[in-house]
Formats: sequence, C-alpha cells, structure tokens
Amino acid sequence: RTPERIYPLRRNSKGLELGHQPHIDVLRGEMDRFRGPREPLNAIINGVDHRFVGETQPILNPSRLDQPVGEWRASGKAEVDAAMAAAKAAFPDWNARPVAERADILRHFADLMEEQMPHLIAVIAHEAGRTIDDGIAEVREAVDFCRYYANRAEELMVTQELPGPVGESNMYHLEGRGVWGAISPWNFPLAIFVGQVVAALVTGNTVVAKPAPQTPYIAWRAVELMLEAGVPSGAISLVLGAGETGAALVGHKDISGVVFTGSVPTAKAINRTLAEKDGPIVPLIAETGGINAMVVDSSALPEQVTDAVIASAFRSAGQRCSALRLLYVQDDVADDMIKMIKGAAEALAIGAPMDFGMDVGPLIDKDACERLETHWKEITQHGKVVYEGKSPVGGTFFAPRIVELDAPDRLQAEAFGPILHICRWKSKDLDKVMAAARGTGFGLTFGIHSRIEGQKQALAEMAPAGNVYINRNQVGAIVGVQPFGGHGLSGTGPKAGGPLYLTRFVEEKHVCEDT
Ligand code: SER
Repeated sequence: RTPERIYPLRRNSKGLELGHQPHIDVLRGEMDRFRGPREPLNAIINGVDHRFVGETQPILNPSRLDQPVGEWRASGKAEVDAAMAAAKAAFPDWNARPVAERADILRHFADLMEEQMPHLIAVIAHEAGRTIDDGIAEVREAVDFCRYYANRAEELMVTQELPGPVGESNMYHLEGRGVWGAISPWNFPLAIFVGQVVAALVTGNTVVAKPAPQTPYIAWRAVELMLEAGVPSGAISLVLGAGETGAALVGHKDISGVVFTGSVPTAKAINRTLAEKDGPIVPLIAETGGINAMVVDSSALPEQVTDAVIASAFRSAGQRCSALRLLYVQDDVADDMIKMIKGAAEALAIGAPMDFGMDVGPLIDKDACERLETHWKEITQHGKVVYEGKSPVGGTFFAPRIVELDAPDRLQAEAFGPILHICRWKSKDLDKVMAAARGTGFGLTFGIHSRIEGQKQALAEMAPAGNVYINRNQVGAIVGVQPFGGHGLSGTGPKAGGPLYLTRFVEEKHVCEDT
C-alpha cells in the first residue's frame, strides 16, 4: 500500500499572503466593513433562527471591550429538545444517502468557506481576538477538515465482501450511529467546531452543536454556510449557551455520541453523565489540554530554538492546547538561550488583530486574565521572573511573561495563556526530566531540540505525548499530515485530522447469508 492509499490525497486549502498588497487590501476592506449580527443570535433548529424570548448577553470583542460585536441568547432545555427531535427525524434519510453525496455537500461547504475566507477571518478577529495569521490558518484548517474527512469517509464507508466458505456471503459495512452532540471551544472557534460537526455528518450522523459562549457568531455563520451547501436543515442544529445547555445536550436520552474539546473536568463530567444515563452505551471523543514540555540540549541551534519557543509559547497568546508551557534547557547553554528568548519576546507586537501586524492578540475574556494573574502570583513564589511584558489597555490583553522555576514539579496545572516556565537540567538528570514530564499525567505535545541523532530518537520514543515535534515549533498540526490528539489526561483519541478519527463516529454492521 502506498502512502496515498493510507492517507487520502489532500488538496491544500488556499491561503492569503500577508506580504501581498492585493490580499492585504481585501482583508482590510473586510475588517473595515465588519458588522456583527444585527439581531441577537438564537438557536438554529431545522434551518430556522428560533427567536426564543429571554435575556440577551453581549458578544464581546476582547480587543475592544467598549465595542461589543453583538448579542446572543442562551438556549434552554426546550431548544435542546427541539434540536434533538429535528436531528433524530433527519437521521434515517441522511444516513441512507450514499457517502459520496454527503462528502460532496461537505466539499461544497469547504469551497464556500474558502471563498469567504476574508470575511470569516474578520469575524474570528473581532469575536475571538485571533490575529490575522491565526485567522488564515484557522479557516484553512476548517477547509482541510472538510476535504480530508470527505475523502476518508469515501474510503472507509465502502461495503466489503469478506472472504468466507463457499456457499456463504459475508458483507461488512459502516454506518452512522445517530445524533451526535458536538461541544467546541473558543480558542479555535471555527476549525474545531467544523472538524467535529463535519466528521459526524459525513459518516451519516446528524448533529446538535454547541459552540463556546464566547464565540457564537462564527459558529452561526458556519451553520449558515453548511445549510447553503446543502446539509439538510434537520441534520445540523445549533444551540447556544454555557454549561447548562451543554449538560442538557449530553444528558439527552437520544444522544448517540458526544465529541468535546475543552477542559479535563468538563470531559470527566460528560463521561460520568454518559455512563450514568439510561439507554445505550454512548461513545465520547474528548480532547483536552496539556502541560506541554520542550527539551533543549546543548547541541541545539539557538536561533531555531528561539523561533520555536516564541511560536509555541506566545503565538495565539498561548491559547492553544498544544502550546509550550515548560521549557527544559540544558544548563551549560541556558544563560545564552534564555537571553535570546527574552530578546525575541520583547520584540513581539501585542495589540488588536484588526490593527494588522500583531503577533499576539488578547486573551479571550477577563476571567482568563484573572486566572493567569493568580497563577503568575503563585508560580513566581517558586522562581525568578525573567520577563514581564507590558500589556496594552482597552481589552483583555496579557503580554507574554517568562519565569524560571526552581523545580519542574512546581507547575501542576495548565496555565492557558502566554506564560513560559523554564527549568534548567544537567545531562545526568535527563531521566528525571522525562519522569517529571510523564508525572503530569497529560500527554499532548512534546518538543525536542537536539542535533545528536541518538538523543533525539531516544527522547522521541520516551516522550509521553501524542504529538512529538523535533527541531521545530510544537503547534499548528496540519490536517492529514500531523494527526492531532494526546494521551492520558489530554484526551481519548482518535486523533483529529488522522486516519482513524471517523472510525469512532460509525457503527459496524456485518450480514452473513447462506447462499
Ligand atoms: N490543533 C492545534 C495545534 O496543533 C491545537 O490547539 O496547535
């Protein structure tokens, strides 16, 4: 089997080039024209914007807290029930369609997102505070998920005749499971939302999706485009809200599967609810976070390390589950390396994404800033402050900070933002470093910087992580190229954008006939 057979050929999504004036002009135009929703956003059920009464809440622009993007209304149990009923009714027809038909509709959806990339980037910049670079990468990832899963579903969902004894036919095929609940985070408010929903849809399931309460608008736009592409209105519903809405969805009697990206406590709570509720045994795909480490030895290239550390720890304001949290530097190069990293951190541009040219945007909201401030106060009791950037005002900005810890086990929880923790190690202590990395219980990404062949390979084998990156940064997994997802506390798998992801969304069926 050739690699093309195992990993279906992928067509790269189109990007935008920020060094190319016509592309910059298009993006500037979209940013200037951007207007949030004119009416408060509501649930979308059966293709209809349900105008439920109830209090509205603002959708904030984290860069400019005085200029909200719009308003939204939380969906209650009644809306979740209505969405579930629509999804249940739509399932038999959608599941019975040929896989190629579903795949083509989702490819069409990908084309629509690609065409509307500048607009979608503007929505993401205003609502989620993501920089233009991040916005481009995010829309491309969403497009890639659609095309990759469409190709993969067509490969997997073929009825196979299995070899058996003479006089017997053995037919094996895959089909959708039913209605999936998809619960997605604000840090990749388009890509993860789309990845979850499309994986479920293309395999014949119908979906009720609940995006994070901070980012309902981009999810709303995505559902509009899915409907325009031809997804039947009952097959995808959107409910809006926080934990209560999510709990109503997960606890619904008709749920056949849940796909979730977010925190460990919420993943465990969902798992408990699914285990305890009446009805069938329901699968869960959970992707959570990590206390991701990078090990740098004295043979590493300092410029390459600096570049990789800055990208991994500070890009996206450190709000990636893959982001670098704990950097281990070999002691004999540590002083020079830390100096270079500090210098590069000082040069980062921090500000509102719509002002263009920013490296680091805001945190998602005030609560995120408060959590990080609390963490900083505590962690700096056990280390030396290396760098504390100056945050702009007017939004939820939190400029990069660096602390050198006196011991690695000081970092016991994921600090979701641009704080880099550094520890020095001596060569005799490499085993202890790896034991400390394993001891966190997480296992998402792991970075290695070394020019020593044996060391590099040994570390990669020992690394307790689903995604290991050598001599580069450790963020930005590409669909179909770097299947993404971790072990232990970091999630259940299968990896998103990987060859096995869709297998959790299907049921297997075998028919044996005496002929
Ligand atoms: N898929 C993202 C990345 O690789 C995770 O947040 O960075």
